[in-house]
Formats: sequence, C-alpha cells, structure tokens
Amino acid sequence: MSTAVQQELEQLRQEAEAALSQASSTGATREWHAEYLGRKGRLTSVLRGLGSLPAEERAQAGKAANELKQALEAALEERQAAIARAELEAALSAEALDVTLPGRKPGLGKLHPISATLREIYAIFGAMGFQVYDTPEVETDELNFQLLNIPPGHPARDMWDTFYTTTPELILRTHTSPGQIRAMREYAPEPIRVILPGKVYRYEQVTARSESMFYQVEGLAVGRHITFTDLKGVFVNFANQMYGPGRQLRFRKSYFPFTEPSVELDVDCIICKGKGCPLCKYTGWLEILGAGMVHPIVLQNGGYDPAEFTGFAFGLGPDRITLLKHGIDDIRYFYSNDVRFLERIG
Ligand code: FA5
Repeated sequence: MSTAVQQELEQLRQEAEAALSQASSTGATREWHAEYLGRKGRLTSVLRGLGSLPAEERAQAGKAANELKQALEAALEERQAAIARAELEAALSAEALDVTLPGRKPGLGKLHPISATLREIYAIFGAMGFQVYDTPEVETDELNFQLLNIPPGHPARDMWDTFYTTTPELILRTHTSPGQIRAMREYAPEPIRVILPGKVYRYEQVTARSESMFYQVEGLAVGRHITFTDLKGVFVNFANQMYGPGRQLRFRKSYFPFTEPSVELDVDCIICKGKGCPLCKYTGWLEILGAGMVHPIVLQNGGYDPAEFTGFAFGLGPDRITLLKHGIDDIRYFYSNDVRFLERIG
C-alpha cells in the first residue's frame, strides 16, 4: 500500500476520532456520520478512489479502508449509546420527583345532607322492625290516587297535582303512599312493617319550604290488633331519637282520604323550645308528618280483610327534617348543586 493512502487513512482516523469525541448530542453524531461515513462522506470518497490505484496496492488499501470504516462505525455506535445514556440521566434528574414533599390531600366526598337524614331514619325505624321497601317513582293514576280512595274528580287531587307523562294514566308520583298498595299486595295476608323512601313530584309553587321534587319516607304497619296507640308509641320513639330525648309532641286532627282517623304530628320547635320564633312562625310547634289509621277501603285494595286487620301509615318529609336539623332557611339549596353549601353542612 502506498504511504500516501496509508497517511490519508491515518489522518482521517485521527480527525474522525477527535471530532466524534466532541459530538455531545444525537444531532451532532448525525452530522459526524454525514461528514465521514455518509454517501458524500470523506471515507466513502476514499473508498471510491481505490479503483484508480494500481492492482497490487488496491487489495491492501481496500482492506485498511474497510477496517477503518468498521472501526468508525463501532466508535459511532458506542458514542451514540453514551449520549443516549447521558440524555436519559439529564432528563431523569431534571424531572426528578421529590418524594419528601407532603402529598395533596385527596378530596373525600360525603353524603348529601338528605341522604344522611334518610340513613338516620332507616336506622331508627329499622330498630323498630321496619324494613325498607323500594317502589317506583313513575306510577299509575290508579295507584297514586284511585286505590288510595281518591277517585277521579276528588277535591284532594288538587293539592297533589303532578307531572304527567305522554302515556295516558302514567304520572310521576306525588307521594310515596302508592307504595303502601304495592307492599300490601306483595305481603297480604302476612302482617307487615315497612318504610318506603324515595323522591316524589308535585306541580307546586317552589318556595323556601316547598320544592317540586323532594323526598318522602312512607311508613306502614298492618296486622291484627294494631291501634292508634301503636302509632303514637312509634312516633314518640322516633321523635326522641331524631330530635333528642324529652320532646313535646302534639297530634292534630287532619284529613287524608287514605287514613281514618288522620292526624298531623308536630314537635316543639327545636330553636325556641316552644316559646315562639320566626322558624315556627311563633306557634312553638313544627309539623313533621302526616299519619293515620289505614282506611278500610285501602286495606281491602291491598288484599287485607278490614274486619280482621288494622294498620297505621305515615308520610314524613326528610327535606324539611334536614332543614330543621341544620338550621337551613331554604330548601332550594339541597338541589342547586353548590359544593360550597354541601361542604358546610354535616
Ligand atoms: C302526603 O303526601 C301523604 N301521603 C302523607 C301520609 C301518608 C298521610 C300516609 C297519611 C298516611 P303531605 O302532602 O302533607 O301528605 O306531605 C307529607 C310531608 O311531605 C309533609 O309533612 C312535608 O314534610 C313533605 N312535603 C310536602 N310537600 C312538600 C314540598 N313541596 N317540598 C318539600 N317537602 C314537602
């Protein structure tokens, strides 16, 4: 091999190695590759020029040039791996997590105030042997009214007017009372003790005390020898647990088509203890539910013989109970989905 080619290759090796050791990024190694090993690279042009050498030199020069090519390719690979490692390390340390920083507290949800009241009600009645019985919110006119002794044209329909579906006779229930018929029809002639919670709907002027959608919890006990005294005993127990011991209760006569006799139950005002304040409209009493002895016609519609069975029923409003419990002055807060309100309650 001529010393000229040998020198040229040696020179090329030194320059290439020196340049490669300076390349400190993937981009720089790419440029280096183009300069020495690419299609128009310097070593490539040496290789191309070998053809013009005398035959006796060509083989040896070719071998040396190919060896250099392989050596440079290996050096490039090694350099690229080193750069990739360095780049990874730099990224890792730049994006490092400081595991000693205090964590962010996850925002724990909690029960809606009405759900919390419902659970309290379930527990109180559960301890008295009442089981929860679920019934539909979309009801028929027959169950919501007729079987509860409210025939078409009955004046009581006015105060329980509702929303109608496009299917005739199918309405949104105005109270949980149609559930009484469903529960009785499932269990008659066995004695029953159930509570029926859920949403009800009314065509109602919305005010601070009245919503067009709200909750009710219906209660029903049917059996032999159930009397008004049982109803009273259950409510004295309920009021003492829900509002604290020693509450004064007042039963006022009332009217519901599906109970006879009918009453409304008041508890002494939780704010003024009966002295009179704006909450109780200066009466000293707060209404908590409607109740009565199940009307014989309703017992019959449920499948019980009214000569043999009696029962009591009641309907209470968890929304209003929750308003009282927390001293909230407007029922509309419950359904306005304002997290600031919900976080403050409970
Ligand atoms: C009834 O709905 C009867 N079904 C209750 C009943 C059941 C009586 C079984 C006898 C036997 P009333 O319309 O009064 O009755 O409603 C009962 C309770 O629901 C009320 O005491 C009140 O707490 C609540 N309530 C009624 N209307 C609204 C309203 N618009 N917004 C919020 N709560 C209401």
